[in-house]
Amino acid sequence: MEDLLHHIHIAPSILSADFAHLGDDVAEVLDAGAKVVHLDVMDGHFVPNITIGPLVVAALKPLIHGAGALLDVHLMIEHPEQYVDAFAAAGADVIAVHQETCPHLHRVLSQIREAGAAAGIALNPATPVETLAEARLHCDMVVVMSVNPGFGGQGFIETSVAKIAKAREYLPDTVAIEVDGGVTALNAAALVAAGANLLVAGSSVFGGHDIGGRFRQLAQAATEAV
Ligand code: DX5
Ligand code: ZN
Repeated sequence: MEDLLHHIHIAPSILSADFAHLGDDVAEVLDAGAKVVHLDVMDGHFVPNITIGPLVVAALKPLIHGAGALLDVHLMIEHPEQYVDAFAAAGADVIAVHQETCPHLHRVLSQIREAGAAAGIALNPATPVETLAEARLHCDMVVVMSVNPGFGGQGFIETSVAKIAKAREYLPDTVAIEVDGGVTALNAAALVAAGANLLVAGSSVFGGHDIGGRFRQLAQAATEAV
């Protein structure tokens, strides 16, 4: 698993999938080669929207693990420590919590690892990388949010490219960098060049016909930087 986290991957976000045909949509990206699937959990408090819980993670687990892919769970919720164990038990391989929701961040990162998952920290666009001065030594992944969390389909915040480059310098090499929000075939290569290796993509994968083709096009664009 650690290995998958450190390669360049497009991580389709199911937030923009057709929830009436969720299994079919996920199967299509897995068939196209997706190795990391991103699941957005929102509570209506930390962010204005409400989405999915551990039940959906558990329902998708056989399909995603069956394809040798990782379940990457992004918790946009207050008090994430109350739910970490449930998401890990449901099958999450990577669990990211927001720095902004965790006064006891070190404790939550330890909890995630003890539950058997890789520990991620997500940063809102206005939260500086330097806030990770201590926590960078205790995590496996940092998520640089390139939109304000809460909704799919928002425009990419351009200053995120420089923030990713700063994060790559600031974080140990062992820490993967994920960028989340507004990723398209037009900015994918620049994001990889800046230092991101996991590119979350919701609307640019699921927001049209030929999901598999859209995934492959993004994956191709991302590797053009290498
Ligand atoms: C936003 C979520 C994202 C979202 C990205 O709060 O964390 O993962 O699905 O969607 P796009 O790729 O459409 O910006
Ligand atoms: Zn996300």
